[in-house]
Amino acid sequence: MRLRASVIGLGPAGRGFHLGAWTFIKDTVPTCVFDPDPATAELKHVTKKKCRHYTDLDRMFEEEDIDVLSISSPPQFHLEQAQQAVRHGIRNLIIEKPLVTSVEELEGLRELESQYGAKICPIHNFKYQPGIQSIYNSFDKGELGEILHIERTWLKCGDVARMISDEKHWSHALPGGRWGETMAHDLYTAMPLLGRLELVHVDARKTTGKWPWLSADEVTILLRGKKQRGTLMIRYSANQQENLFKHMTVHGSKAIAYTDGMRALQTIWPYPADETLPFTSPEKYVSGHYPLMGQAVEFFLGRTDERPISWEEAGDVVKLTSQIGAEIEQQVGYSRT
Ligand SMILES: NC(=O)c1ccc[n+]([C@@H]2O[C@H](COP(=O)([O-])OP(=O)(O)OC[C@H]3O[C@@H](n4cnc5c(N)ncnc54)[C@H](O)[C@@H]3O)[C@@H](O)[C@H]2O)c1
Repeated sequence: MRLRASVIGLGPAGRGFHLGAWTFIKDTVPTCVFDPDPATAELKHVTKKKCRHYTDLDRMFEEEDIDVLSISSPPQFHLEQAQQAVRHGIRNLIIEKPLVTSVEELEGLRELESQYGAKICPIHNFKYQPGIQSIYNSFDKGELGEILHIERTWLKCGDVARMISDEKHWSHALPGGRWGETMAHDLYTAMPLLGRLELVHVDARKTTGKWPWLSADEVTILLRGKKQRGTLMIRYSANQQENLFKHMTVHGSKAIAYTDGMRALQTIWPYPADETLPFTSPEKYVSGHYPLMGQAVEFFLGRTDERPISWEEAGDVVKLTSQIGAEIEQQVGYSRT
């Protein structure tokens, strides 16, 4: 019998990635959803899958038998809703990034495992996208050599990007404001290549009077491996003319690799152009949620003891996001809403 799956929060992440994954994974079937906005009951994602829709979370937990729950609400609610679910006997939880909003909240989540035997999988989905997987495979085979530098660059057009242009968006209340929403991706994708990281430097600036509610519109962050000499540079800008451009470049001692998340290119030294190898190019967008949530189900069902995402990785991401967020806020004099 398939596991009965539920989703909390039906924004683009919940209705697209989470409901999609519960339908795609052979061991699960979506049965019910919660969102406080009654209009979300009419979403085709909900009606086509014949999910029962609730606007009262306790009621859903009382009336439904839920084997696996994904929490895709704004991060300020993640811990409280995970606690509420565990109190109702739910033991298998998937939680979106940012997992929680502080180190103290992280401890609260870990207690749900240690005290109640719950199993929790944070969503670190970009690690599972084909372009990033190609780079990890290349690294594991020794093709990249030692990792010297990683650059992750995230460019948005603040006039149209929904989380920047909306003054009331919940992301502005996260550590570092809007950047605290996306930072997890930039940190955890580097960790398989550089190991554990420590912060070296943050440069945050407000270069425009647009979006007064935004913490900063230009941010550069430098981190380095704790045990390796490689560095990670993260750059955010709200000043791109188009909506989105996000990419990652890895400088290895033997080769350079580049990915936009989906496709990847690798250039091997020495540098004749004909040795530039396109090594993945999927035809349509594939979210890393699907393979990650599939692995989480294997873990929930006890078919493997291996956690898809370790607590060490999740904890480091939460701690670094809080530390970097505080530095951004201090540099630009930002007070969270
Ligand atoms: N992993 C990824 O690639 C990815 C991409 C986008 C968003 N996210 C994450 O997913 C989560 C949701 O993001 P989004 O972009 O879908 O958000 P959103 O703001 O677009 O939508 C949030 C939804 O949650 C509902 N909501 C509000 N309060 C709620 C509550 N107390 N309980 C349950 N639902 C509530 C809203 O009505 C809305 O339908 C966030 O943690 C975000 O950072 C992850």
